[in-house]
Amino acid sequence: MQDTDPSIQAADPVNPSDLALGLISPHIPPDLWQRHFAGAPLRLGVLASGSGSNLEAIAQAIAQQQLNAQIQVMIYNQPQAKAVERAKRLGIATELLNHRNFPSREALDQAIIEQLKRYDVDWVIMAGWMRVVTDVLITAFPDRILNLHPSLLPSFPGAHAVEQALAAGVKVTGCTVHYVRLEVDSGPIIMQAAVPVLPNDTPDTLHQRIQVQEHRIFPRAIALAGSDIAGSDINSGI
Ligand code: GRF
Repeated sequence: MQDTDPSIQAADPVNPSDLALGLISPHIPPDLWQRHFAGAPLRLGVLASGSGSNLEAIAQAIAQQQLNAQIQVMIYNQPQAKAVERAKRLGIATELLNHRNFPSREALDQAIIEQLKRYDVDWVIMAGWMRVVTDVLITAFPDRILNLHPSLLPSFPGAHAVEQALAAGVKVTGCTVHYVRLEVDSGPIIMQAAVPVLPNDTPDTLHQRIQVQEHRIFPRAIALAGSDIAGSDINSGI
């Protein structure tokens, strides 16, 4: 048997000196690297304001072992959000952070960060989160915040994407999962699905068909982002 060369050491993905030397991005904490290389489930914190159908689609994908993740908590801002009933039925912890109780967007984001840390979240999943997020949240989870939008970005950003697609007369629209940046509905695109616009579509009928595709792509996009934590960092706008 040959002697091993003592100058060659097995790669240690979480060696703190690598971090200090910049060999490993400081955007990705060493403990996240460690879990990543160990194949541990992604620890998700879901932010929701509405019906929570995407929360449920993510939970289903996890249950069906299509997504190696666990939902640590769902944070919601609307006390009446239907997402709460779903989360309770699915056995997911919930936390209400009503934006009306905070003096600024930054203060709300700071409270969100505190809850996400309390629940040990690595990935922030905006699943119908109808609040503009600030630099405070974005820098706390660099390249680990994903948003879902009901159009083929960069077309129709903003709160009325489905109505705008109809008004513009496009024949195809869809949905997009992307990394979150400061500008609303911008950021590197992870996955998209196209949906045809039918002649008699109303905002409701079109949104329903878009949601079918959202439920398909969101869990897949989370899996893709989670499997590529170094790659996503290359895209970093921070
Ligand atoms: C989705 O259509 C998403 O694109 C938009 O908000 C909606 C949330 O739906 N941002 P749900 O609450 O997951 O059912």
